Amino acid sequence: MNISTRYFPQAWAFAALVSLVSLNVQAEARYPANVPQPKEGQFVHVPPTMEDLEKNNMHPELKRVIRRGHDLFVNTQQLRGKNVFNNMNCSSCHMGEGRQPFAGPVWPAAVTLPDFRGKNGHVNNLEERIAGCFSYSMNGKPPAYGSDDMIALAAYHQWLAKGVPMYPEGQIYGRGYPRLPEPAKGMDYARGKKVFETNCVMCHGADGSGLVQNGKVVFPATWGDGSNNWGAGLVRHFTLASFVKHNMPLGRPNSLSDQDAWDVAYYINSQERPQEPRYTGDVRETREKYLKTFHANTSYGLKVNGRLLGDHDNVGEKDFLKPDVLRPRTFTAE
Ligand code: HEC
Ligand code: HEC
Repeated sequence: MNISTRYFPQAWAFAALVSLVSLNVQAEARYPANVPQPKEGQFVHVPPTMEDLEKNNMHPELKRVIRRGHDLFVNTQQLRGKNVFNNMNCSSCHMGEGRQPFAGPVWPAAVTLPDFRGKNGHVNNLEERIAGCFSYSMNGKPPAYGSDDMIALAAYHQWLAKGVPMYPEGQIYGRGYPRLPEPAKGMDYARGKKVFETNCVMCHGADGSGLVQNGKVVFPATWGDGSNNWGAGLVRHFTLASFVKHNMPLGRPNSLSDQDAWDVAYYINSQERPQEPRYTGDVRETREKYLKTFHANTSYGLKVNGRLLGDHDNVGEKDFLKPDVLRPRTFTAE
């Protein structure tokens, strides 16, 4: 595939059709029916599948490592109690095994890092970015840098980016959870509750705790001890609204109005969840400290319905607040 075909707007649609043919029925049903189409000048990449991996003639030992990375990505619960302390897999938020546009595809990290990251104020590489999702989204502790599990996860991300040049030019189509237009009527708790009760409780439960069966996450927790903590990206209203709009209810993506998506995001993010790992002991102070780089878009440390959100010492299932790797760091070489 040469670069010019990747900039060609129809490339994604065509290749998606080709890759859909090879997906199994269950996975096919999980693919969004009506994803927004690429805009002129956007960089489009269709990541390879695990079937493509088997056909590739790379070293068998590398294939084994990438398979392990894939397995960790879709069943991260195998690290429960060691690195993961909630009811999430990486694929709970990075849908389609981390390949799907508008659902946090993970390959862009492999070709745009190392880069400066505002959230922690220093240059991060791929392993550190993965570590971030362990610390916040999985309410956990990342596998050590350079460990078998970390190398396997990084290798899986890099495999998905196969053929993409480093630091590609142009905006990446469907990266992250692209921001929706601002809500015309603001965000409202009562309206959001209604949206949740009508469209979400059948899977995620009225108390947001989801469903775990025989150690397998069937439906992840949208809030509470089994969910991501207060420092996770989804806690920002604009990120959650976009995730929901483009991916939920499961099997009916893009069916809610933008307004409903903002309202339900606000409702979910007005519930409690495990403490922010950067907690200083005072929720208002913590909000203020990370306001510019993060909490300006969350309800953490604000009063909603008479409750000060995040005002507790509950760290969920783990027995520590903050994993060591979150220490601030400066690049010291001249
Ligand atoms: C609770 C939801 C959630 C879970 C679970 C989760 N992530 Fe993320 N992840 C996010 C959000 C939100 C972002 C930021 C997306 C954005 O900036 O729009 C993100 C970003 C990323 C990125 C950067 C993507 C880019 O475009 O540069 C990588 C890599 C990543 N996650 C890897 C992982 C891995 C590996 C796991 C499992 C160990 C994981 N994530 C689990 C929510 C999640
Ligand atoms: C048919 C079942 C189903 C319905 C209905 C549903 N979800 Fe989900 N949801 C899932 C599954 C399953 C996942 C994990 C993704 C995966 O494994 O493919 C998920 C993931 C999520 C996540 C990310 C992980 C987490 O728990 O934070 C959020 C947020 C979410 N759903 C919100 C919603 C909202 C809001 C609605 C209603 C508008 C909704 N869901 C409706 C099944 C459902």
